[in-house]
Amino acid sequence: MNGLLKFITCGSVDDGKSTLIGHMLYDAKLIFTDQEESLVLDSKVGSRGGEIDYSLLLDGLMAEREQGITIDVAYRYFTTEKRSFIVADTPGHEEYTRNMAVGASFAELAVILVDASQGVLTQTRRHTRICSLMGIKHFVFAVNKMDLIDFDEKKFKKIKKTIKILLAEYEYESAAIIPVSATDGDNITTKSERTPWYKGVSLLSYLETIDVQNVDTEKGFTMPVQRVCRPDHTFRGFQGQIETGEISVGDEVTTLPSNEKANIKSIIDAGKEVQSCEKGHAVTIQLDKEVDVSRGCVLVKDTKPEISSLFTAKLLWMDDTKLVPGKNYMLKIGTKSIPAVVMNIKYKISVNDGSELKANEIYKNEIAVCDISTSEKIVFEKFENNQALGSLILVDRITHMTSACGVVEHALRRSDNLTWHDMDISREQRAAQKNQTPKTIWFTGLSGSGKSTLANEIEKRFFTEGRHTMTLDGDNVRLGLNKNLGFKEADRIENIRRIAEVSKLMNDAGLIVITSFVSPYRRDRVRAKEIIGKDNFIEVYVSTPLSECEKRDVKGLYKKARNSQIPNFTGISSPYEPPKMPDVTIDTSDLTIEEAADTVYEKIKSLL
Ligand code: ADX
Repeated sequence: MNGLLKFITCGSVDDGKSTLIGHMLYDAKLIFTDQEESLVLDSKVGSRGGEIDYSLLLDGLMAEREQGITIDVAYRYFTTEKRSFIVADTPGHEEYTRNMAVGASFAELAVILVDASQGVLTQTRRHTRICSLMGIKHFVFAVNKMDLIDFDEKKFKKIKKTIKILLAEYEYESAAIIPVSATDGDNITTKSERTPWYKGVSLLSYLETIDVQNVDTEKGFTMPVQRVCRPDHTFRGFQGQIETGEISVGDEVTTLPSNEKANIKSIIDAGKEVQSCEKGHAVTIQLDKEVDVSRGCVLVKDTKPEISSLFTAKLLWMDDTKLVPGKNYMLKIGTKSIPAVVMNIKYKISVNDGSELKANEIYKNEIAVCDISTSEKIVFEKFENNQALGSLILVDRITHMTSACGVVEHALRRSDNLTWHDMDISREQRAAQKNQTPKTIWFTGLSGSGKSTLANEIEKRFFTEGRHTMTLDGDNVRLGLNKNLGFKEADRIENIRRIAEVSKLMNDAGLIVITSFVSPYRRDRVRAKEIIGKDNFIEVYVSTPLSECEKRDVKGLYKKARNSQIPNFTGISSPYEPPKMPDVTIDTSDLTIEEAADTVYEKIKSLL
């Protein structure tokens, strides 16, 4: 008996994917009698007018029945005399690329359906590209609906040629191209008499015998730590799955990123103490000395993964909203979750021919190569060397949706050559000399809400009290430091990032900083708070409503925006996301400048 084969089926809506798997199960007598009966019954109302509709076998989901498409990933487990299989049946519709990527990440082999009457389509190329991106190295192209082209050898050969050209772009280990008819059962479980020119085996025989043991590119032992287990003060164990290699009691391991060495004291696998253990097992490991290890750290032996905060990755974008460089995401790699920013899009990859295309933005279902920067150094590997430490997802920090999945290509060395230099005079000393606690008071609100006026009043009050201050104002900074930035989302993100960094430097210099920027995106303000430090950040939301700001229209900008003379104008053609829990809120609609400033000043002082 050959080992378990995990495969994925990919095809477009009408390629007959579910029918193909259904037929395989049916022919191989892998369904129960009552299921068979209900199949006949169901088919009477199904789409094949009384004939058995094999796709109904796989139909765990109502939506598929109703619309004839599969949503979500359905995992099926089946066994023949020769092998056990798990198949991930995933939707082919472009809308559901996310599910396909999930299915592909689990599979060793992909069965890609090609409609013989249509040949290789864009979807075929997209499916192959995503499978390859997710690490699949074994492919079967099932050229389906051969009955529709009268089992014509010439037509099949033409399709085969196109597939071979397509495959030439990829690094793969095996590929078969099989002519089949999923509805009639040709070459599904037995060789068809209608394709005498086809010299290969049936699809099922191929799947039963294909060897998917990948040539081992993995080196050494790695175990990302999922949990530190401390039932009592005598025991401290590190739990996780061994992703590569093996380990024995007594072996010396290195902890990353802390880079300490320790020996394995004990290994517990499935509740029992063992002497050694290998890849695939979830274990608890005890070390012979105290080390600095928490969730997201990695234990290694005989291998040296990268430790860096900057790397290049290939991403499949899955979010409805486009990828904008500079936006902050949660990155998950191995067992580590960490804030990260897509610094820049190097290029996107054409689904059709794999060529590199210039891009400033990436939309749903597009594949792009990007540079990613994490908020601190993390442990990772090239995907081909270590799937667990080389694959990642980006999660939107507000919606918690998975925005992208991808693989690490290589580390970037830029940050490695920089080292923080500690100066003799510290931030605390500078602040103490000025006899104050540096803070950044961050005003946010619509244009014309009163931010700059209030910021100015607050600074005057601080100044009179003998405090050392600095005000950073949107219009002013945009005339100098941020002269090169406009009002598109990516530019605003960069505007706020720079202001946050400058504010931090000024706080380091001992100053109280007052900023006045529309800063319309919540996540950018959250990021600013992270840069400046949460204890040093006071958020003041000037909540004056749009109607009032527009009535004032001090700079005449709302009028222009309404006449479409200013694109992306906040409140009109670009969003403003109010803070959820500002430290201070002030609506200036019905207050004099004096009254509003007094109220805000009082509140700020109570927070200093
Ligand atoms: S932010 O969105 O990036 O924080 P910032 O506060 O620097 O904006 O600049 C906003 C100021 O620029 C506004 O007060 C207004 O005077 C001017 N401005 C010009 N065009 C726009 C625009 N499209 N949206 C918002 N403000 C604009």
